[in-house]
Amino acid sequence: MSYTKALKRLQTIRAHVAPNLVEETKEGDNSTHSDSMLRNVSNKKASIWSGFHQKPIKDRINLLKRLYPTLDGDIFLKGSLTPAQADMMVENCVGKIELPLGLGLNFLINGKEYVVPMALEEPSVIAAASSVAKFVSERGGGFKVHTTAPVMASQIVFIGVNYSSAKYLVDMNSQKIVDFCNSHCRVMVSYGGGCRGVRTKKIYELQTEDESRDVMVVELLIDVQESMGMNLCNTLAERCSEFIRNIIGEGKIGLRIATNLCVERMATSFFKIPVDKLAWKDLNGKEVAQGIIRAYEFAVHDIKRTATHNKGIMNGVDAVALALGQDWRGIEAAAHTYATLDGGYRPLTKYRIAKDTSGREFLLGELELPIACASKGGVLGTNPAYNATHLVAGQPTGRQIAGILVSVGLAQNFAAMRALAVEGIQKGHMTLHAKNIAVSAGVPPNLIDEVVAFMSSKGTFDVGTVEDYMKAHKIYSVTKKGNISESSKKTFSTCFVKIDHPDLAETIILNLIIETPEDQKPIHLSITQDPEDKKAFGKIFGDHSYDWILKILLLSNQLTEVTELPGYQKTHQASLCYRLKLITILINRVVTAILRNYKEEGIEIIESVYSVCKGSNVEYKIPSSHFFLHNLLTELIATYRYYIDENIDNKFLREALIEDIMISLFGLKESYKYLYGITGLTKENYSIFIGHSSKRINLTQVLLIDILACDQSRITSEYIKHIVALGQVIELKAVSIRDVHKAELNDNSNYNCYYNWLKIHGKDAQRMNEKNKVEFLKSVDELNAGKISVDTSKIMNQIKFNLLLLNV
Ligand code: MEV
Repeated sequence: MSYTKALKRLQTIRAHVAPNLVEETKEGDNSTHSDSMLRNVSNKKASIWSGFHQKPIKDRINLLKRLYPTLDGDIFLKGSLTPAQADMMVENCVGKIELPLGLGLNFLINGKEYVVPMALEEPSVIAAASSVAKFVSERGGGFKVHTTAPVMASQIVFIGVNYSSAKYLVDMNSQKIVDFCNSHCRVMVSYGGGCRGVRTKKIYELQTEDESRDVMVVELLIDVQESMGMNLCNTLAERCSEFIRNIIGEGKIGLRIATNLCVERMATSFFKIPVDKLAWKDLNGKEVAQGIIRAYEFAVHDIKRTATHNKGIMNGVDAVALALGQDWRGIEAAAHTYATLDGGYRPLTKYRIAKDTSGREFLLGELELPIACASKGGVLGTNPAYNATHLVAGQPTGRQIAGILVSVGLAQNFAAMRALAVEGIQKGHMTLHAKNIAVSAGVPPNLIDEVVAFMSSKGTFDVGTVEDYMKAHKIYSVTKKGNISESSKKTFSTCFVKIDHPDLAETIILNLIIETPEDQKPIHLSITQDPEDKKAFGKIFGDHSYDWILKILLLSNQLTEVTELPGYQKTHQASLCYRLKLITILINRVVTAILRNYKEEGIEIIESVYSVCKGSNVEYKIPSSHFFLHNLLTELIATYRYYIDENIDNKFLREALIEDIMISLFGLKESYKYLYGITGLTKENYSIFIGHSSKRINLTQVLLIDILACDQSRITSEYIKHIVALGQVIELKAVSIRDVHKAELNDNSNYNCYYNWLKIHGKDAQRMNEKNKVEFLKSVDELNAGKISVDTSKIMNQIKFNLLLLNV
């Protein structure tokens, strides 16, 4: 399989393995609105929003109506603004334009749960926000928000003044100016707002013929309470300008306008998540934290990245602002200007890793914005849809709205950084985009997932690809008649592997999706240390299979201690090394299970898989009862090749790793031919038989994989050849020691090289004879003699095969 094919295969696998972006709310994580209905539901510990994303729109609206009895839910579907109202709002009005409205779920802000309306056309934004909100609330206790008083600055320019004296006069008369200003906004004062102060700033110097004069600005600081405040501030600037000019006694009045850069009206959201709780997909917490910090540093140092970084934040902020009727252009202007205040243009979020007093590490994320949000006034009164969105959001105050906006912006940024750092953003994005394409191309709902998977696997997302798919399945014409049977939907089996042990530097996790034939029920296999899982796994793969995997991994740890790989560093590429080793051991297990469970048919299956992997186009049929192991094997090989192509630059190493997998497939299959009597075993071909059999313990792979943790500058093709030879020597030695030990344990399996050796030497009945054992082991050493030039006695003596391997 080529790199691109393997990659696409893996993308399909991942597209199915990845949990839905909007994860379901678990029992007990309920929204706790003041609404009594919600409280009731909450008390019952029901999962209100569980599966919300999977419901049809009609059912979602019905749920909203139940949760908010006063809500006119239909307003979201039918629209609220009449043409007459729209005409009153803008000039030359010709109608309205629409945007989808969705709900950001799982937001826990200062201990209160919020349902967040979001309006935008871009897929994946709402899903990502909801998913991160859940993650932050479960692992970090939610977002903590701080907001300051809603004070806006209104600017009045004076041209041609002496700045020093004008400043002195304004400062001396500031109370008078404040009182004058308040006398012109009595309603705002009655609500608790009004003018809070005055300040001045020199803008620049004017060079006139006889003297230099200054241009200054006087700023009125106005507490606008629940309003956005720009209109009031503009009005007050106009009303107070003459009064202030009289105080200054000179100069001309210039512009009078409020600023959007409302640095008095700040909102900050932050979260703190223990690093050990950051694990996501198959990366551990530390890796995720480091990935986020690296992504953040990129945005700090490269302005092109900063732009996209901040755009992602505003995806969330703007969407909520639009849904709640806020002035999103003002919010945008303030945010981007604020990003430049330290000089340069910087990312609006900040991330760092910090330790608490006990030494536990946390990832801290923060977003701070000057932000003007209103719960009253402006368009909020003219468009009834905003009554509905504010009701759904829990009737937040202006400051709470600001807190929601910064939290959603932070969630959005964290989601983007995590996705970029961990798996690349495109996959999630394209999957949702692909859904839209499929819908727009008229694909019936029951086929959407299938079509999306197809587009992902092809890596092309367009209507043409959708049509190809529909045609290919000969259902295109049926679709036209509107008659698609449910049975055409694919099902997928899964395999989840989790290997955990204190001697392994980390937990190793692997997820696989396995295509299931239409006439078969999906199988969901879990390979974990849970006793039930172990039992189920052992049934198909042979007793103690889980322990076998674990022991080979532990043995590999021991091997690296003695093989003296050049510049080997245990921690370097540790996750990749573990994952690759796990896959190779699993491949070995699955091949063995196929050969053992399906006998001659198994040999044919492995022969076919082997030829296809080697590039042949053979078509072969798998009995449907054997699909699971076969498909699991091909997925494992595809996944293995993907990781190799993706991560390993050294061509010789890549080739050696693939080649050794092929040798294992071939060797295991050949060795079973002897066992099933298809190939007769003789003294002449015994060395070939034991060579094939030794691939049961695939330590060559383990040694080759460890090269990834070495100093790459010292890895030549000669060195790789040496490791392959060393691996084969160790495998032969290991298999011979293991099989002699099995005789000592009275094991009756005939898949034993020692028993077969006894047989061809006519000594069947003398398994326990010490002389035979010694002679057999010596004959294997002779087979190994001269294969490698270095002295392997140290390796052989130090590795305690018997301890590690023989009792599983
Ligand atoms: C896409 O609308 C926004 C992102 O590009 C933001 C980012 O890269 O941080 C995903």
